[in-house]
Amino acid sequence: MQDTGPLPQFAAIVVAAGKGLRAGQELPKQFAIWKGKPVLRHSVETLISAGADPLVIAIPPNGERAARHALAGLTGFTLVVGGETRQLSVARALEEVGEADRILIHDAARPHLPVEVIDRLLSALENTEGAIPVLPVVDSLSIDTDGMMAGSAQREQLRRVQTPQAFRYRHILEAHRAWDGETDAGDDAQVLRAAGGDVAHVQGDERLAKLTFAEDFMKVAPAIRTGMGFD
Ligand code: CTP
Ligand code: MG
Repeated sequence: MQDTGPLPQFAAIVVAAGKGLRAGQELPKQFAIWKGKPVLRHSVETLISAGADPLVIAIPPNGERAARHALAGLTGFTLVVGGETRQLSVARALEEVGEADRILIHDAARPHLPVEVIDRLLSALENTEGAIPVLPVVDSLSIDTDGMMAGSAQREQLRRVQTPQAFRYRHILEAHRAWDGETDAGDDAQVLRAAGGDVAHVQGDERLAKLTFAEDFMKVAPAIRTGMGFD
């Protein structure tokens, strides 16, 4: 891990309340093993050592045993039951945080969290209400209609958006409270923008890639079965 010097005080949320349906594992993917440890444990360890406080983790309604197993031996976090959508999970965790200046919101499904990205995000927050890590699009983009190319999109202005996303806590809390509740936002930056907040781009990192499909696990660890209980 690269040493970037002391980070400013920040809170963090890790959303780990999904079902992981596309990953097709026996357990929700955040509790499966990746590079020798449960997926969730990787980013939680990084956030604890980076000083995240408070640290709130959203888990599935029946996932407390699996979460405690995945995080055995770690301290300094609070578990909260998430919601039906990612956005609801974030909203519940935000209410649980209570008091903070800056906050990072991160997907448990992105286990490798480089501390340099945390540093870039917190620095960018000096001048804006939100900051997100992005990467350029390098492939050509084709618009698909029924399996046929219906057009193309210019990639120059498009960016791939990752987590963690960083926010001024009061602003993202109020933005989530103000969201209509009907539509599911793609991410928290979208929620902040809808409430009028400014979101800066910082350089993302390929290592922040999300584990989404079974193949994503196979690339590093063919055997991901665990005997861990999920009640
Ligand atoms: N997430 C959550 N609460 C939900 C849905 C998702 O906390 N109701 C979290 C997931 O645990 C994951 C992150 O949001 O860490 C990104 O979501 P995604 O990759 O879509 O995970 P899942 O929803 O679990 O997977 P799938 O969509 O394949 O079922
Ligand atoms: Mg999902």
